[in-house]
Amino acid sequence: MKSSHTKITIPHIANFSSLDKSNTVIITDENVFGFHSKKLKNYSTIVLKAGEEFKVQATIDSIVEQLINFGADRTTSLVGVGGGVITDITGYVASIYMRGINFGFVPTTLLALVDASIGGKNGINVGVYKNMIGTINQPQFILHDYSFLNTLPEAEWQNGFAEITKHACIKDAVMFRELQSHAVKYYQTKNKELSLLIEKNAMLKTKVVSKDVNEVGDRKLLNFGHTLGHALENQYELSHGQAISIGMVFASRISKQLYGFNQTDEVINLLEQYGLPTNVLFNKKKVFEVLTMDKKREKDFIKFILLQKIGKAVIKEINLIEIKEALNTFI
Ligand SMILES: NC(=O)c1ccc[n+]([C@@H]2O[C@H](COP(=O)([O-])OP(=O)(O)OC[C@H]3O[C@@H](n4cnc5c(N)ncnc54)[C@H](O)[C@@H]3O)[C@@H](O)[C@H]2O)c1
Repeated sequence: MKSSHTKITIPHIANFSSLDKSNTVIITDENVFGFHSKKLKNYSTIVLKAGEEFKVQATIDSIVEQLINFGADRTTSLVGVGGGVITDITGYVASIYMRGINFGFVPTTLLALVDASIGGKNGINVGVYKNMIGTINQPQFILHDYSFLNTLPEAEWQNGFAEITKHACIKDAVMFRELQSHAVKYYQTKNKELSLLIEKNAMLKTKVVSKDVNEVGDRKLLNFGHTLGHALENQYELSHGQAISIGMVFASRISKQLYGFNQTDEVINLLEQYGLPTNVLFNKKKVFEVLTMDKKREKDFIKFILLQKIGKAVIKEINLIEIKEALNTFI
């Protein structure tokens, strides 16, 4: 088994203007560019259409063409300035352009600050299949400039709390209690508390990934809620945060059946408190078909992430038939 000594990039707080401008190409999306073009002036910039539907190969091809037009070479650095879609795309294209060039991230959504920008997984979708192709390759830096959050829409704040709740469920019961006593508004209006929450979550993920870069063990826990979540996300046009919110409820229900987990209502209440959906009507057959292509499937089993209690997650191989039955009784 491949053991890894890869150093995981730790996010640092800095002003965006501290970024080295020489030989850097920024990749961003039109929303971020629309709000923050002043910060990006003087850079060669590639502006993509915003949204998960553009996290596909055609976008990669167009970026490569633009990099060629810019005369980008092996010494060029790419910097992804945006949410998780942008960081995933930037990391992936940097990993394959000229067989790999340097890259860094400036995450601009809460979700990307606490999760997507960290750990080096960079991928794109193929049809409804999430992150079907990609690389594991670490960025040179992750720069946190919270001033980008001033323009973040409410729904994107809520999405960020889906991954924060995930971290609390799998690793941090104390944070779960802290979240229970607040709401989105509290963190939007209290800079210090928000900053502490972001750093706590970024470090939680960094720590998990550092010990298991290639996801042979504990890193799998970060997929709590993602098996059903990923199967729903692109079929029902749910945001990533919304999809994994529903996925976490499903995983909590299975946890009850298999481990007597009795805190599903607390998980549901917390997600609702942060404006996230906990259920959706979906076509069980179609969703099951997509779910069988989950990257954690091995033959007829999926390594499913379950909870024994809040703050304590486990990996359990579950037969696809059992998952199908659980899906049929989900709603
Ligand atoms: N690689 C990983 O480890 C990892 C982990 C979690 C999620 N992800 C991926 O991340 C993606 C979800 O990330 P996301 O929720 O950040 O989505 P996103 O990148 O689509 O951003 C959400 C929306 O917010 C807008 N936006 C971003 N920053 C803004 C700002 N500062 N002000 C105003 N608008 C802004 C974007 O234009 C977009 O419309 C998914 O594709 C998911 O698969 C990857």
